[in-house]
Amino acid sequence: MQESEQGDLRMTPQAMRRLAARAAEILVDRINGLQEAKTWDGEFRDGLEEQLGGSPPEGARPAEEVLEQAAREVLPFAARLDHPRFFGFVPSSPTWPGVLADFLSAGFNINSCTWLVSSGTSQLELVVVDWMRGWIGYPETAGGLLTSGGSAASVEALVAAREAAGHPDLPAVYMSDQSHSALKRAAVIAGVRRENIRLVRSGDDFRMDMAELSRLVAEDRAKGLRPLAVCANAGSASTGSIDPLGAMADFCEREGVWLHVDAAYGGFVLVTDDGKELLDGIERADSVGMDAHKWFFQPYEAGALMVKNVQHLEKAFAIGHDVLQDTVWGANHPNFADRGQQLSRTARALKIWMSVQTFGMVSFRAAVQNGLDLAHRAKEYVESCPVLELMAPVSLGVVCFRVNPAAGGRDEETLEEINRKVLVRVFWDELAFFSSTSLKGAFSLRICILNHTTTWEDVRKTLDAVVRLGQDVLAEE
Ligand SMILES: Cc1ncc(COP(=O)(O)O)c(C=O)c1O
Repeated sequence: MQESEQGDLRMTPQAMRRLAARAAEILVDRINGLQEAKTWDGEFRDGLEEQLGGSPPEGARPAEEVLEQAAREVLPFAARLDHPRFFGFVPSSPTWPGVLADFLSAGFNINSCTWLVSSGTSQLELVVVDWMRGWIGYPETAGGLLTSGGSAASVEALVAAREAAGHPDLPAVYMSDQSHSALKRAAVIAGVRRENIRLVRSGDDFRMDMAELSRLVAEDRAKGLRPLAVCANAGSASTGSIDPLGAMADFCEREGVWLHVDAAYGGFVLVTDDGKELLDGIERADSVGMDAHKWFFQPYEAGALMVKNVQHLEKAFAIGHDVLQDTVWGANHPNFADRGQQLSRTARALKIWMSVQTFGMVSFRAAVQNGLDLAHRAKEYVESCPVLELMAPVSLGVVCFRVNPAAGGRDEETLEEINRKVLVRVFWDELAFFSSTSLKGAFSLRICILNHTTTWEDVRKTLDAVVRLGQDVLAEE
């Protein structure tokens, strides 16, 4: 049956329902089958091009056939970032109401640009931003917006900092040698010359060395540079380390410099008591970026930028346009497009709001705490295992470790070789995925635990596999 006439891009209600039901079935099966599924699948370009390349078809194809092809030949070739034993990079594990919220907002065709165009989701964005304001411990003056992610939040934070400083000619930005590449890119976009992005040495605990920060700022001022912003990690991607937020806030206050906290990874631990303690001082920062698509169980893209004085955002980003003159609703009815770089915006608040409404904060808090607790247990496992060595203090959900039997006397090169082999074997042979990092030049295995479906069994099995494969590799030496 032809589902639509030529030139007509609509579908019959029956065809729409059938297609949506099949899509839902595919997703529910996928999500419920994750525990037994592979953690990763990928394909070389040649293979994919053969199946998926070619010109756009002139004629129609049955919609279900297209859906099945996408589900079979496109979507599976990906990391299962929501697999309970996916511990690589920064995983994510969206809740079903969050997934459906993205579907609904696409179907309702929401553009959360201005109050006039979407008051419902603008109100939700105010609500969700206010939740985050409370979790950070910010005053009433604070506000923000939802962004595509931590990268966009970093750009917007540094542009706001630049404008607040009066757009100086020779700006410099400071961040630790553990900071994310997203912050460096953001500084470049905000107009900071690459040589004026100062990477401040971190200590053995991978936290910013305050004496070094102070020295660099003084040196730059003497050279005529204008320190624009200091960026703190909470936590860093490699080790989860949290910079000394209180000391950095003291320093920035003294120096009159904007303090931005990149809490893309760790920010949502603020919903727990442990997290509040760990991130103490964050409320003194001028801005905070945090990603709900990481430790708050939302589908991509769900970042946020919070600014202690929301006026700074609107001063930096609100630019009128004749064609939008009808969209000025008035006081207390913000146009979120005036707070950041995007005009057309998806309704990101809907997913956060729907999933929190559905499960409640008690469950969300417990799910975040689960990641913290499992990382702690993983640390104990590594510390008590004679074959493994802990490579960094365990912070938030990140555990850095390697195969290195006590009193082995192996040099760094040999250890890297051993651990690379272990990593590759886990990748190909085990139903688990994790990645590596470089800790001041030393190769380290790294697991990042934040999935709400991950259990101790999942973590233990993965660590057991590392020990077993590590012993195999050592036996081959
Ligand atoms: C610490 C940190 N900052 C920034 C980013 C970039 O965030 P996004 O990928 O959401 O743009 C990440 C991503 O993993 C991160 O871990």
